[in-house]
Amino acid sequence: MDDVLAAAWDCADGDEDDVTATRRRAGDDESNRASRGWWDRNADEYQDEHGAFLGDDRFVWGPEGLDEEEAGLLGPVAGLRGRRVLEIGAGAAQCSRWLAARGARPVALDLSHRQLQHALRLADGASPAASVPLVQAEAGLLPFADGSFDLACSAYGAVPFVADPVRVMREVRRVLRPGGRWVFSVTHPIRWAFPDEPGPEGLSVAASYFDRTPYVEQDAAGHAVYVEHHRTLGDRVRDVVSGGFRLVDLVEPEWPHWNTQEWGGWSPLRGQLIPGTAIFVCERD
Ligand SMILES: C[S@@+](CC[C@H](N)C(=O)[O-])C[C@H]1O[C@@H](n2cnc3c(N)ncnc32)[C@H](O)[C@@H]1O
Repeated sequence: MDDVLAAAWDCADGDEDDVTATRRRAGDDESNRASRGWWDRNADEYQDEHGAFLGDDRFVWGPEGLDEEEAGLLGPVAGLRGRRVLEIGAGAAQCSRWLAARGARPVALDLSHRQLQHALRLADGASPAASVPLVQAEAGLLPFADGSFDLACSAYGAVPFVADPVRVMREVRRVLRPGGRWVFSVTHPIRWAFPDEPGPEGLSVAASYFDRTPYVEQDAAGHAVYVEHHRTLGDRVRDVVSGGFRLVDLVEPEWPHWNTQEWGGWSPLRGQLIPGTAIFVCERD
């Protein structure tokens, strides 16, 4: 992997043969095709490596370990009861299970069949009250009627991987009721400028923060097998606003002392110095 590039949640450690890393354009279709294949192939390894940190029914916003129980970004925990919540890029639906256990009515959506199979695995034996409907779909084309949800959330799901994030914002806005809240986390944009390394080598700027050319891993035939899109902080704010939302908070979780665990390029060393995650709290008028 090119060491100057950021990768969301250690996504770029697949073991495909003849894969090379480059920077080039990648449109929505190619990006989504690559994401689906990559997550289907790598879901087992991802859950194996990170499942214990994520917990089976915790709601963790990123590698810093900030969880929704503490942060309350979707609103007070007591107010979640009965709320219809859409989780986008849900993976094994750990966040949705946390929501269900608090009386919310979540739906967990993901592009990857294999990730959703892990959601089924974790649900096996769970109480029926905490059961979560699973939907395999793409974040830019949500299979729900207008105004179906009170809240939407995403912990590193979909947004870093799509070429057209405004399309996702507009879809989320469409399926939310007026006044609904949309909270999503992504790799903090500043990380794009640093090598994706947890140690001291990850502390010096090595690439332009302003270069939006996507990070692409491609096979020998030139087909993308993994794509990640960079947006500056300003781009992300504009995406939210163009999508029809008001930005009410931008949370940059600090690395807590209790968290001694590295996650790819996220580490206690770097976490003390630069932000690793950006969480956008948005509201639909
Ligand atoms: C880094 S994982 C995060 C999963 C989960 N939120 C967690 O915290 O473990 C990103 C997830 O987004 C999903 N994803 C990527 N692109 C997507 C898209 N366009 N639409 C829906 N899901 C997508 C992937 O399949 C993967 O499960």
